[in-house]
Amino acid sequence: MADRGTDLAALLCLDDVASAARRVLAEPVWDYVAGGSGTESTLRDNRDAFDRVHLVPRVLVGAEPGDLGGELLGTPMGLPVGVAPMAYQRLLHPDGEVALAEAARDEGAVFVASMLSSEPIERIAATRAAVWMQLYWLRDRAVVADLVTRAENAGCRALMLTVDVPRMGRRLRDMRSGFTLPDDVVAANLPPEVGAPAHSGGLHSSALMVHTGLAFDPKLSWRDLDWLRRRTRLPIVVKGVLHPDDAVRAADLGVDAVVVSNHGGRQLDGAVPSIAALEPVVAAVADRCAVLLDSGVRSGVDVARALALGASAVLVGRPALWGLAVGGRAGARRVLSLLRTELEDAMAMMGCADLRALRHGTTVAGGGPRSAARGRASGDVPAGRSR
Ligand code: FNR
Ligand code: LAC
Repeated sequence: MADRGTDLAALLCLDDVASAARRVLAEPVWDYVAGGSGTESTLRDNRDAFDRVHLVPRVLVGAEPGDLGGELLGTPMGLPVGVAPMAYQRLLHPDGEVALAEAARDEGAVFVASMLSSEPIERIAATRAAVWMQLYWLRDRAVVADLVTRAENAGCRALMLTVDVPRMGRRLRDMRSGFTLPDDVVAANLPPEVGAPAHSGGLHSSALMVHTGLAFDPKLSWRDLDWLRRRTRLPIVVKGVLHPDDAVRAADLGVDAVVVSNHGGRQLDGAVPSIAALEPVVAAVADRCAVLLDSGVRSGVDVARALALGASAVLVGRPALWGLAVGGRAGARRVLSLLRTELEDAMAMMGCADLRALRHGTTVAGGGPRSAARGRASGDVPAGRSR
């Protein structure tokens, strides 16, 4: 049993966790987490696009899925899944980021701490999870520089710069609810004067949107990425890339990974679904840097889809918060372990013994699979991706 009375064992998929979270969360908090920007068309399209990616199983491979572990940018991973950076996790549960990082640690997932986390990065890193630190670009660059140093000193293993928020998307649900942070949930990494505006909302406006407008630098450019690259020896991940040319430019500047992401449909409404943008980015840069994906991952099958299309790993956003809401650390663990179970299941039925085989898996977006077997050693897994 979880600490909020939900029987976690009865939650059999991530949608079950979402339903349970909806029952325990106040409506404005549910809306802040679940919502997207504008008409929420990208939020919906993220899901629809995943469902249009079909996996083509191979049979009679004579092996069961083995270890799902690996390494990404020098970070050991027990499974190819990380927790996406998400702000203010104490909105969901009093233990906030600490509980979610512990869950990630226990399940072997990377935990990406948001710059806007409600626990300081040092406390999150003290869980001994594999922690990466996410940064937004603040108008006050000295604060960014200080956070880079703090992340390094705390033992974070990579920095993730989020580049798709020159301004915050219009989240109509939050504007309607007049969303503000409660007094006991603060941007714990920021000096009070930089974080405080997230507490002062207004009629028909979201305090977080107001805060972003005041604090974030809307003119973040490639030059700034270069500044960051020169400033730290940690691996750098650029999150929020959808165009292959941007991925190439990032790789040219020496970034170690890009995250193909539309911010879970919370930024540009109408943006291409991440899973639809993945393959061109992989084709453009996968030989030079790692390619991760987020936005709409809701099952182990989705993880399999993303990996079969060439992703190194995925990040999962909202479902991790739903797990946290229903059962703190145990609830978040439930979400990650469901993803593992579902991924193993999918791999077994796809005929993939390991992640390497999965990354060479076959998918189709329409029509049927074509043979990619010519010239390949028999018994090998197909390398081609039929379209
Ligand atoms: C986010 N996201 C986000 N991204 C980021 O770089 N820094 C942040 O602080 C936040 N904060 C945040 C809060 C909440 C409540 C959500 C739901 C999302 C975006 C996040 O990292 C990720 O890109 C999406 O959540 C992925 O989509 P799914 O998995 O939620 O569909
Ligand atoms: C969000 C911001 C904080 O998506 O990134 O809510």
